Amino acid sequence: MNKNIAVLPGDGIGPEIIEQAVKVLDAVAKKYNHTFTYNYALVGGCAIDECGDPYPEQTHSICCNADAVLFGSIGDPKYDNNPTAKVRPEQGLLKMRKSLGLYANLRPIEPFDALLDKSPLKEERIKGANLVIVRELTGGLYFGEPRGRSENGEVAFDTCVYSKKEIERIARKAFELAIIRKGHVTLVDKANVLATSRLWRETVTDLYNREYKDKICKATGETIKLDYMFVDNAAMQLVTAPTFFDVVLTENLFGDILSDQASVITGSIGLLPSASIGDKVALYEPIHGSFPQAKGKNIANPIATILSAAMLLETSFGLTEEANAIRKACIKAVENKKYTPDLANPGQSCLTTQQVGDYIAGIV
Ligand SMILES: NC(=O)c1ccc[n+]([C@@H]2O[C@H](COP(=O)([O-])OP(=O)(O)OC[C@H]3O[C@@H](n4cnc5c(N)ncnc54)[C@H](O)[C@@H]3O)[C@@H](O)[C@H]2O)c1
Repeated sequence: MNKNIAVLPGDGIGPEIIEQAVKVLDAVAKKYNHTFTYNYALVGGCAIDECGDPYPEQTHSICCNADAVLFGSIGDPKYDNNPTAKVRPEQGLLKMRKSLGLYANLRPIEPFDALLDKSPLKEERIKGANLVIVRELTGGLYFGEPRGRSENGEVAFDTCVYSKKEIERIARKAFELAIIRKGHVTLVDKANVLATSRLWRETVTDLYNREYKDKICKATGETIKLDYMFVDNAAMQLVTAPTFFDVVLTENLFGDILSDQASVITGSIGLLPSASIGDKVALYEPIHGSFPQAKGKNIANPIATILSAAMLLETSFGLTEEANAIRKACIKAVENKKYTPDLANPGQSCLTTQQVGDYIAGIV
């Protein structure tokens, strides 16, 4: 198979972790006789430094012409510590999601058996947890207008907007996933307070009643279930009873926060991949940010990015066997304690980012 992959390393640890994922993709290409061509492009702070735009036209064009996009992370303290900066790396991320129409972010969360003791949560609570957060990615508070500051600077405001159309298209993704997973969708919202959340409940319930309530889950042989949970309760249930969840469907801000929280189930945010899909090319990225404190130190965990590459192969190219080979190699790496400092106990020896990449690439 011949495929073009747009590669956007971004800022902070982005280039280091992307290098490992590309190494693993190359190993897969060699073993399974594929040709992957990589086109690199700038996004985030490095793009602002280079051309004053966090998502330049050239990057957009490279993404549009690719079969899939592999992305690292954006963000730099230079901008984080300057709230008045007019052009910011995060604008690049939001513009990229919006212009590529990436409205659904899928974040699978399943702890590695060998790492159950790494989570701050009790082993008996997290064993068997296997959920996916389906986060809406191009609406809500991150995009709504008007937004900004009052003239005297004393007041700031953001607007949360959702349309039925936006809700229905992502709800459909959640129900389709439930059919091939465990048959259970939980809509997480704040319908007791927010008008947008009430629109979410109404729209998702209508769609369920119309099209999904009689659909059969392949694994359970039963009809698809839909239930609802307020986001504050969901935050608590995710850490006290994570095995309750299968598909968590939620809006942009809630999904952003809950998926970082859910990462503690696995022991490190450096393990969690994601896929952002829409109507055009899909994008794959770790759920974490640019971890600027680790930039250039060769200590960041590359597994989230390597697993994102596995999602890319399976979801965009239909290469399930190759994707599973990567997943198995990652499992073997953690079982053999070939991991970065975030997973090591105090005093325990560990590998560098590059060594973990080499190890996984060597055994796929
Ligand atoms: N998608 C993105 O690119 C994205 C997402 C979130 C934050 N950000 C940006 O990243 C910058 C830093 O934000 P932050 O500190 O809140 O979030 P972060 O995810 O970069 O880091 C938070 C903490 O998670 C851990 N961590 C993250 N990635 C890791 C890895 N690969 N291996 C081991 N540990 C890891 C570290 O302990 C780190 O201190 C900011 O500029 C922010 O805007 C970008």
